[in-house]
Amino acid sequence: MRVIGIESSCDETGVAVYDEEFGLLSNQLHSQVAMHQAYGGVVPELASRDHIRRLLPLVRAALAEARSPPDRIDGIAYTAGPGLIGALLVGASFARSLAYAWGRPAIGVHHLEGHLLAPLLERDAPVFPFLALLVSGGHTQLVDVRGLGRYRVLGQSQDDAAGEAFDKTAKLLGLPYPGGAALAGLAERGSGGRHRFPRPMLDRPGLDFSFSGLKTAVRVALRDRVLGEQERADAARDFEDAVVDTLTEKCRRALIATGRERMVVAGGVGANKRLRERLDRMARELGARAHFPRPEFCTDNGAMIALAGCMHLCAGDTTGLAAQARAHWPLGDDGTMGG
Ligand code: KG4
Ligand code: ZN
Repeated sequence: MRVIGIESSCDETGVAVYDEEFGLLSNQLHSQVAMHQAYGGVVPELASRDHIRRLLPLVRAALAEARSPPDRIDGIAYTAGPGLIGALLVGASFARSLAYAWGRPAIGVHHLEGHLLAPLLERDAPVFPFLALLVSGGHTQLVDVRGLGRYRVLGQSQDDAAGEAFDKTAKLLGLPYPGGAALAGLAERGSGGRHRFPRPMLDRPGLDFSFSGLKTAVRVALRDRVLGEQERADAARDFEDAVVDTLTEKCRRALIATGRERMVVAGGVGANKRLRERLDRMARELGARAHFPRPEFCTDNGAMIALAGCMHLCAGDTTGLAAQARAHWPLGDDGTMGG
């Protein structure tokens, strides 16, 4: 089974070819970050139009890189949601049209399922079951992954997602959008301990998160102050430490509660170096193991959609003829469009 995967849920156009036997054969990506930067965030209509412009050349490039003509492709996977509805519709109708023209099945993939399964793209892949920490710009969730399509959400953010907190705090520190990686870079030069930012929701049981108060704490601490370079770096470091402490402690509790021996981190914030180091150490201390996809598989990409689509098509799942897209779509037990 060889599947082409199309990701267009937000501001990245990703196209990749995944083969059940040979693994990932190609991975093409166009990021719209530079285009949206002038506006300080993603402009949905511009995103949709750019996906239209990029998709066909990226599909051609992905097929060429994989040395795979269309007749070698057995199925087409596309991100069906959640995400920006216009952006999703571009990918869904494009993928559906390809499936129709090539006479192959299409499958709509849940974007978060793609993130959850991305660690399986790596050579040293975790086997089911495992615990997943999903930390992206739109979501923060702890998920018990029992098998393909068998996902139980154990806890999630009650307000801002971890990536959103990174981006908003980065903005406060004068960094360009999206600020997560830039804030992490700034934090490298900071020394911790100048500010004592809260560790939200650690004082109560349960596996939910809350990050909006943390962002506000940073705003209050920096209010009406002209910050020097070192002060900005110190604030970035203290903010990052607060997020990493909170995420690590919740993961520790979830590993203990579920008894799982493996965990994965997925989503854009999963690229954060300090988070990876801390989760790795915490898991070892519990006799468990943390798996991390390489940073380019943490952020949005077509490879994870091709992989998830391939797994579902191999399991006999397909999506009907309609091009399906859902802006809101909770991750439930059913990872396909039925959920
Ligand atoms: O998964 P993703 O690419 O897109 C969504 O589906 O949301 O995640 C993007 C998020 C952004 O908020 C970005 O600032 C954050 O991931 N991010 C980081 C890092 N790299 C990306 N946050 C913290 N540290 C990083 N190194
Ligand atoms: Zn994502």
